[in-house]
Amino acid sequence: MKTILITGGAGFIGSHVVRRFVKKYPDYKIVNLDNLTYAGNLTNLLEIENEPNYEFVKADITDGELMKKLFKKYRFDGVIHLAAESHVDRSISSPMEFIFANIVGTVNLLNAARVIWEDYSGKKFYHISTDEVYGSLGTTGFFYENTAYDPRSPYSASKASSDHLVRAYYHTYGLPTVISNCSNNYGAFQFPEKLIPLAIHNIKNNILIPVYGKGANIRDWLYVEDHANAIDLIFHEGKVAETYNIGGHNEWTNIDLIRLLCKIMDRKLKRSPGTSENLITYVKDRAGHDLRYAIDSTKIQNELGWKPSLQFDEGLEKTVDWYLANEEWMKNVTSGDYQKYYDKQYTKR
Ligand code: NAD
Ligand code: DAU
Repeated sequence: MKTILITGGAGFIGSHVVRRFVKKYPDYKIVNLDNLTYAGNLTNLLEIENEPNYEFVKADITDGELMKKLFKKYRFDGVIHLAAESHVDRSISSPMEFIFANIVGTVNLLNAARVIWEDYSGKKFYHISTDEVYGSLGTTGFFYENTAYDPRSPYSASKASSDHLVRAYYHTYGLPTVISNCSNNYGAFQFPEKLIPLAIHNIKNNILIPVYGKGANIRDWLYVEDHANAIDLIFHEGKVAETYNIGGHNEWTNIDLIRLLCKIMDRKLKRSPGTSENLITYVKDRAGHDLRYAIDSTKIQNELGWKPSLQFDEGLEKTVDWYLANEEWMKNVTSGDYQKYYDKQYTKR
């Protein structure tokens, strides 16, 4: 039986990856390591928490000695590293947390693997990263695997730094690493600080929908299960030392996306057409707001046979249905400090 470490498995993407691996690979023992920040939530994993091949370990990746102890104890055969501080706005207000979690945390895991793994054969250290490391596109062009890094927010700079360190551990120590850089994910279990679940939450509760600047920034949206599928493929078939770009070829300006969401929500909530659009409010732009991201995913499509499975309107409908059916989840994650944090953000603009 192989033992696989998945970090950040209580978060949005991580919970989809953990659920998929626990169910699909009963011959793997899946160890989910997460320190349960505001974004980590064990109720995301209720479906598999009692499975015999699943174990949760509450631990902080910034604790290097602890990481070594855990590598010794569990003798991991592979690592899928997702744990990170992930929200750009928070990186603007609290950059240091991103430096510790995303850079120091990643190096601690790399060091634990380097020192504790006696033999690298058959091992893989898979680091999950973002398209934001490539910077911001103008109105044309795409990010390719060989696009030069040009991160522009504390979040993307911390992820770029961790990517460089992962590559450095391959080149210097021969650690068998692989990296993927993905575009914006959406779907169930995403914390309502990110655009889509925030807008769903606000529309449902008749709260203004904050659109930064003119709403003209463009993101390339991918359904989270398609990302989990890509992660599965890359973990098993991706070549060591390679990078794979993952994206939806699905570009939307923020305002068009919000308008589409408003239409879907009006229909689902049986409100008259146009009701939700009245909540759209243009607010102060994000500092250093990247204009456009767009991924060219030809490499993973050609080499590993991956492709996105859902059209955006279909994925968005499924996502809205999930949030409307899981009001309790939304209530839980928006209790406590949530309102205080968002009130503060809005008064700043
Ligand atoms: P998330 O914020 O929903 O989840 C992150 C998880 O990491 C949480 O469960 C949190 O508790 C955990 N974590 C944070 N700091 C930790 C620490 N110090 N020790 C242990 N656990 C810690 O994030 P997400 O959106 O699921 O993103 C997961 C990964 O995918 C990140 O590395 C992110 O950079 C990357 N990514 C995200 C997207 C996206 O659209 N969300 C796109 C591309 C890449
Ligand atoms: O591209 C991949 C990245 O996508 C991931 O690496 C990040 O972890 C993830 O958070 C996401 O980053 P973005 O900054 O693109 O996502 P966010 O949902 O925060 O914002 C999407 C767009 O919507 C962006 O242009 C900012 C805008 N926005 C966001 C919020 C939260 C608004 O206009 N209003 C809002 O309230």
